[in-house]
Amino acid sequence: MNEATHLLATDLDGTLVGDRKGLDRLLGFYESQEYDVSLIYITGRHHQSAMSLIEQENLPIPEVLITDVGTEIHLGPALEKDSAWEHRMLKHWQPEAIDKLAASFKGLKKQDLPVSNRCSFYAEDSDTVLAFEQRLASAGIPHKLIFSGGRDLDILPAESGKGAALQYILDKFNAHEAKMLVAGDSGNDKEMLTLGFPSVIVGNAQPELLQSPESPMIFRASKVCAGGIQEAWNYFHPE
Ligand code: GLC
Ligand code: MG
Repeated sequence: MNEATHLLATDLDGTLVGDRKGLDRLLGFYESQEYDVSLIYITGRHHQSAMSLIEQENLPIPEVLITDVGTEIHLGPALEKDSAWEHRMLKHWQPEAIDKLAASFKGLKKQDLPVSNRCSFYAEDSDTVLAFEQRLASAGIPHKLIFSGGRDLDILPAESGKGAALQYILDKFNAHEAKMLVAGDSGNDKEMLTLGFPSVIVGNAQPELLQSPESPMIFRASKVCAGGIQEAWNYFHPE
């Protein structure tokens, strides 16, 4: 990551992964360039699940792997956990209080996950999410709420999230000068897609992203998944 000149920060499911032919074409395209593209994967999956996907799909090993909707960061050749980030993010985190409040909502089912840095649920509908959000606010519990795909509800430490984690990494490696593209397909990607860097919403995106406001830095691809990434790369970084 140090001195990266080109950088792809991408979600996995439904963005980099989802169309095999498009993915092979994108990787081949990057191979054929004179420059190297540093990879940052930013996924909602938990760390082990992300590692399995990388193996299963034979994806290039990234330089930084951000998992759990931006609540865990692993980096370097051995993909070691970034404890400084974890420490900072968990300062005001109250997972027990959040779970206790959630238990009184019939429309929320806790996701079965091996992590405590986020509280994730399956929500029955958006009214349940709204009511829960009000309860969290009136209880004064610091958090960030992310609703994706009309079903997945993530309650995260207030200082975390895909956008906050990506910004932390760019600051850490002083990588602001790199030619960059941020790519995503669903609600949990919104924060990183609206940081102001060249970004792409791939053609198969979820409705919650298709409705987001227009911006010159957000390219709406017509191609799905990795094909959409390549389309946007050519748009922002023609060489
Ligand atoms: C992924 C994760 C899930 C999370 C969702 C939305 O599907 O597996 O835990 O709620 O992304 O961020
Ligand atoms: Mg996705």
